[in-house]
Amino acid sequence: MPSPAGRRPNGRAAALAQYSRRAAHYDSELAVFEPLRAEAVDLLALREGQRVLDVGCGTGLSFGPLERALGERGAVVGIEQSPEMLVLARERVARNGWHNVTLIDAPAEEAQVQGRMDAALFHFTHDVLREPRAVDNVLRHLRPGARVVAVGLQWAQPWAWPANCFVALAALYSISSFEGLARPWDLLARHLRQFQLHTTLLGGIYLASGVFEPDRTRD
Ligand SMILES: C[S@@+](CC[C@H](N)C(=O)[O-])C[C@H]1O[C@@H](n2cnc3c(N)ncnc32)[C@H](O)[C@@H]1O
Repeated sequence: MPSPAGRRPNGRAAALAQYSRRAAHYDSELAVFEPLRAEAVDLLALREGQRVLDVGCGTGLSFGPLERALGERGAVVGIEQSPEMLVLARERVARNGWHNVTLIDAPAEEAQVQGRMDAALFHFTHDVLREPRAVDNVLRHLRPGARVVAVGLQWAQPWAWPANCFVALAALYSISSFEGLARPWDLLARHLRQFQLHTTLLGGIYLASGVFEPDRTRD
């Protein structure tokens, strides 16, 4: 269960336990969000042959849409810390015969990626986005001008209480802390230009996008 505010000291252990429990039924739980995933991949505006980081890739549900956008000459690098989620991602890659997908078994704070990537996707990865060391490490692996897209839960306006009930329940189930749910994307946004924010579900889900600019830091 996540703490209502502030990161837990054992946030990583909590996240690992959460996804160990969820892995087997994760894909069916996420089916309802597939249109959002397609929108997120569209926002990346990928071109054939580009290389994309899928941060907190889970079971690899984004790999198919990313593969279709990048083609065989492109590459997907998935970073994932949950062993149970990674097993399913590996099975998906093998089943589809994708030779251009690399999986990195590490927390986003520590993952090391060869070369600079053209884009990064953070799809429902609140825990990663709220850890400054993880955001910094991912951005270190992007080329200047890389497109970055993040999608996830956020608190809606107080009047949108049904959306906030959904956000609270989904957060209890899927993230290790409620910290930052008002502006989950703010650590990332400091490093992006052309930052754009759209919301859906009465404001309870955001889609954020922008272009990575090294050395940019704005509040
Ligand atoms: C809600 S799932 C999203 C999975 C995938 N992006 C998707 O859209 O289906 C969140 C994933 O982030 C992973 N995760 C959480 N914290 C992480 C971290 N610090 N480093 C790497 N992966 C992390 C979890 O293990 C889980 O697989």
